[in-house]
Amino acid sequence: MRNVQFLTGFALLILASSLASAFDPSPLQDICVAIDEPKNAVFVNGKFCKDPKLARPGDFFLSGLDKPGNTANRLGFSVKNANVDQIPGLNTLGISAVRIDYAPYGQNPPHTHPRATEILTVLEGTLYVGFVTSNQLNNTLVAKVLKKGDVFVFPIGLIHFQFNIGKTNAVAIAALSSQNPGVITIANSVFGANPPINPDFLSKAFQLDVDVVKDLEAKF
Ligand SMILES: *[C@@H]1O[C@H](CO)[C@@H](O)[C@H](O)[C@H]1NC(C)=O
Repeated sequence: MRNVQFLTGFALLILASSLASAFDPSPLQDICVAIDEPKNAVFVNGKFCKDPKLARPGDFFLSGLDKPGNTANRLGFSVKNANVDQIPGLNTLGISAVRIDYAPYGQNPPHTHPRATEILTVLEGTLYVGFVTSNQLNNTLVAKVLKKGDVFVFPIGLIHFQFNIGKTNAVAIAALSSQNPGVITIANSVFGANPPINPDFLSKAFQLDVDVVKDLEAKF
């Protein structure tokens, strides 16, 4: 009996602590540098809001996601965004979407969204997709081949990718749990940083010859 009471109490404690906020509010912008004198500048975590009486249907609307993006580029893919920059009504709502087109053997290279989990649905084609868990979970690759109608989830913050392994174009629609998910493309961030990260440093970090690093930095 004592044990049951203890367990019930413990369960209530867990419930109470999970009802209280378990982590900081999600930031809605990449950086928000604090200032000493708030009167010098005012920023909000997101965007300012217009008078709700002035809201129009067009504030919650976007068209054109039926049209393929241009995949004639080095990686053979294109992304059309439907986030708060295209749909102002999304401000504060914690959600957005993208259409992604892939040429045959095109890829959406390894990247992460610092502020969003993504749920992707394949509309056409065959995609090899995956994400990699963090160091704590031993950098485990969780990957799968998706066909038309298949759905896959990329958890917030984790590095993930999609690769069109079919001989035809592929199309996917994804929803993301932020009005402004952000994108960090790994190769661009590491080898394309501006100004460049010291090649000697990257050479050791990636265990690559320094000339290979310089070559990569020139490409990105
Ligand atoms: C990660 O690797 C360690 C050491 O091999 C192991 O003890 C642990 O169970 C692994 N964790 C997971 C989530 O695979």
